[in-house]
Amino acid sequence: MVSNEFYFDARGEKERIKRAYEALKEERESKRVGYYNLPDDREMVQKIKDFCDNSEFIQNEMQNIVVVGIGGSSLGTKAIHSMLLHRRDKRINLFFLENPDPVDIEKILNRKSKTRRVKRYNTFFIMISKSGTTIETTSIGKFLMQEYDFKLDSWAFKDQSAIITDEGSPLDKLANEYGLNVFHIPHNVGGRFSVLSAVGLLPLYMAGYDIEALLEGARAMRDDFFERKMDDLVVKAMFYVDNKDRYPMNVLFSYASEFKHFNEWYVQLWAESLGKIDKDGNRVGLTPIHLIGAIDQHSFLQLIVQGPLNKTVTVLKVKDFENDMIIPDISIPYLEKTNFVNAKEFQELLNAECDATVQSMIDQNVPVDLLEVDRLNEYNAGYLVMYFEILTSLAGFFLNINTYDQPGVEFGKKILRKRFGAE
Ligand code: PA5
Repeated sequence: MVSNEFYFDARGEKERIKRAYEALKEERESKRVGYYNLPDDREMVQKIKDFCDNSEFIQNEMQNIVVVGIGGSSLGTKAIHSMLLHRRDKRINLFFLENPDPVDIEKILNRKSKTRRVKRYNTFFIMISKSGTTIETTSIGKFLMQEYDFKLDSWAFKDQSAIITDEGSPLDKLANEYGLNVFHIPHNVGGRFSVLSAVGLLPLYMAGYDIEALLEGARAMRDDFFERKMDDLVVKAMFYVDNKDRYPMNVLFSYASEFKHFNEWYVQLWAESLGKIDKDGNRVGLTPIHLIGAIDQHSFLQLIVQGPLNKTVTVLKVKDFENDMIIPDISIPYLEKTNFVNAKEFQELLNAECDATVQSMIDQNVPVDLLEVDRLNEYNAGYLVMYFEILTSLAGFFLNINTYDQPGVEFGKKILRKRFGAE
């Protein structure tokens, strides 16, 4: 269950709300934009389940999964994994190799230790790249092949690896030629909107998550939206865009450390989708900021509350952490003033801090809305993913941009190739 309360006056004209619903409906029905339909892809879910359930290696040997990918090919999976990790029964490690930073790669693989955990005989490797040519991903992939002595045509490599990519991409061609396991990303699903495709579903299912519930949550949100029950969400996007000069920054202030990577996923989705040249040739965009409560009350909150009034804030709160850990009823000399929380649950403290922060921002006229999930579970994770994806599509519609491309990131890629003397 997810609820959304608004503490700012964001009313929208009926006609504009209607046009926004219609625009997204058209994206969906024309199949120009494919992420809306991912929760209905039963065939992909079955393919993933059959693959994993029938694999001797996955069922009996696998202790680690290494995902190699970057941006939309890793952030969404990482977001859900870190949100739900504490609830899992299965003890399979899930590692992400994203950055071509040698220190980071060695650290994740625990390479220099005698008791290194990622070993050839206990690890499944998943290489994810929609384009199939991303330099960070292919470089790390090559390193892993050498490090673990995998040959493309060996049975071990086939048993212990999979590729997730677009049909027809260079990686897909490689998989076809060598008979490697391959899962396709629909052409009409962009990288940063792909977590509910095989990109997220395969590693999450292998790691022990309930992907059916994840998709059910996403479907519920999507259906509510397309049944036109979510005027608030449309109006939120409209408010952000109409007031983009006054409030150019949108903060996601999440009150649980488990949302750290979800916040990072939001930053990519929002920034890469909305920073564009609009259809009239203007540079437009909304800047995402991600904070974790209560930690960032001690760093960023001051700027929100007394600095320039140029940010909107969405507070993400968990009603019930399903954890009854208590602050001990101990009175320490000189610290008696802290006793007011003695014998209270930690979650009560964190949520009271969340409420206090919300109130303090409302009092200072910051536009705030509160997004509350009853628990951290797969259903709510799916709901939140779809919530922010649809919000992004709505903001893109009101900004009059192409939400789904990212031409700007090509500039640097071209310069990089030139620096290495490549075409
Ligand atoms: O959203 C996007 O399209 C990008 O952020 C990509 O996910 C990212 O650049 C990685 O690309 P690829 O999956 O092609 O390796």
